[in-house]
Parts: sequence; structure tokens; C-alpha cells
Amino acid sequence: MFEQRAKIVLTRRWPQQIERRMAQLGELVVNTTDTPMRPEALRAALLEADVVCPTVTDFMPRELFSDLQPRAKLLANFGVGFNHIDIKAAAAAGIQVTNTPGVLTDATAELALTLMMMSARRTGMGERQVRRDQWLGWSPTHLLGTQVSGKKLGIIGMGRIGTALAHKARHGLGMQIIYNSPSSLDEDAARRLSAQALPLSSLLEQADFVSLHCPAKAETRHLIDHKAFEKMRPHAHLINTARGDIVDEVALVQALKQGQIAGAGLDVYAAEPQLTAGLMELEQVVLLPHMGSATVETRHAMGLRAMENVQALLAQRPLLDPVVKL
Ligand code: DGY
Repeated sequence: MFEQRAKIVLTRRWPQQIERRMAQLGELVVNTTDTPMRPEALRAALLEADVVCPTVTDFMPRELFSDLQPRAKLLANFGVGFNHIDIKAAAAAGIQVTNTPGVLTDATAELALTLMMMSARRTGMGERQVRRDQWLGWSPTHLLGTQVSGKKLGIIGMGRIGTALAHKARHGLGMQIIYNSPSSLDEDAARRLSAQALPLSSLLEQADFVSLHCPAKAETRHLIDHKAFEKMRPHAHLINTARGDIVDEVALVQALKQGQIAGAGLDVYAAEPQLTAGLMELEQVVLLPHMGSATVETRHAMGLRAMENVQALLAQRPLLDPVVKL
């Protein structure tokens, strides 16, 4: 199938070392502008290259694949989430999709923990005060947050990242873990984490912190909506390092304004990099720029894993991380 040098397109810049290794696999074309590619450019890449390596910033809806007879056989996604790609349409066009599970688990769980701490301890507000030269000095009542240790953490989606967060929160901070997930933890893991599976509504009613770790799909779109906020405790914080559209952000702004919840820590947004109106003005929300997996080690490992999937295709071996089996 690949008698000639394979053509591989990277839609963004990758860590340099991995780019160099990818260049050894074939003719490498890198989008050196390092800005999201437009649909026409993505379609051209699918027509001209054997492998396209997209990221979360490349929207590949059904229309992108329609009436297409692509040369591409693989979308080796640089990232674990693949909700930006219409998998069915890609499959119908004969293109397999792989992702990079496993290698970004700890980095993302760490960021969820960071957001939980930041939101609970009002660190964003504190930092803004210091930087703006608005800090008037220590006082017994200045910027009082809420303690995290020993509190109840509700995890929605107990996959790799949810479980890693549960582990860090349970064993690092003595938090009580409750969770809601399509499949339950095995007995051993549930015992180690003292984790209790609950229906979503009970989790929302009980948790001091709710952290989202489910995939973005039709069933989870706006899972956290105005009804969910009504159930949450007024002192609770919502943490989202998964995908923006799991939360109805308009309802979130309203819930924060009305004091239905105390705060939120967000790393992902429905229309990145645009923010839903009202979010920016709220002091009690921590806003980060989709950086859950942004460590040198992790981005390196993600590149490597995507590369290994490309190598498997080129060597006509089974793909390591197909998101669906064709
Ligand atoms: C992921 O891997 O899904 C991260 O969100 C970056 O795409």
C-alpha cells in the first residue's frame, strides 16, 4: 500500500524532537503557521496525504468527508479526546482514527486538582489583587476560601483520568470519593479509593466538588445544565477539564451569579477559544486555556504515541489505539 514515501501532514507544530522523528517516516508536511487549519486546507490534506495528524483545534464534521475520495487512511489524533472528528463519516470514507489514551492521565488529573484548589482557595482573585497592586495586607477576614482536605469529591466519568484524580484526592487530601460512571470500578479499586458509585442526581446533591471526566458525545452534551445546578450545594465548586459542551455555560453563568454554586474551575469551553458571555466578568470562576495535558513530558508522550500509530499503519500492523474498529 505504501510503495512510495508516505506523505504525513501535521496540522499544528509538535514538540521538535517528535517532529524530527516523524520526518524519518516519510514526507512530512507541517503547518508551520501553527494556527488551526481551515476546512478547505483540511480537505486538501485528506486528499493529498496518507496520514493526517489533527489536534482538538481541527473540526472535522461530517461535511468535511462528504463526497471525498481521500488518499488518507489514518487520522492519528494528537490527543485523547476525539469529539472534534466525525468518526462515522471518517470510517465511511475509509479513514481510521487513532488517539493517545493513557499518556495524559496524570497531567490532566493534576490540572483538575489545581483547579479545585484554585477555585476553593480563591487564588485567582488573590493573584489578581497582588498583580493589580490592590492588596492592602493581611487581615483575619481577607479572601477566605474553603478547605479541600476531607471534603466530598464527586467524579463524573470514572475512566483513566477520573480514577487518577480520585487516587490523588483520596490519598493526598483524604477526600471522600463518590462517582457516577457508566461502568463501576472493580471491587479492589473501589476499596482502595473507598469510592461509592451513585446516581448522578445523588452525586450532585452530596458533592462539595464536582469534577467532570466523561467524554463529550451526544449523551453528555449539557449534562450539567440548570437542573443540575439546582441540585448542587451552594458551597460546591464545578471543575471541568473534559470538554466544554458537557456544561451548559449559560446556565453556569446564571448559577454562579445566583449563588447556586460557589465557584467553578474551567480549562475547556464550548466554543474555544471564545468564552460564553458573562464568564470573564465573574470573580468566582477560574479560567485556564485548555492546558490539561500541557507538560513537556506529556506532550512529548502524546506525540510519540500518535507517531507509533502512524508507524503501525505504515508497517501494516494493527493500530495501537483505534477509536473504533473498522
Ligand atoms: C485531549 O487530549 O483530549 C486534550 O484535551 C487535548 O486535545
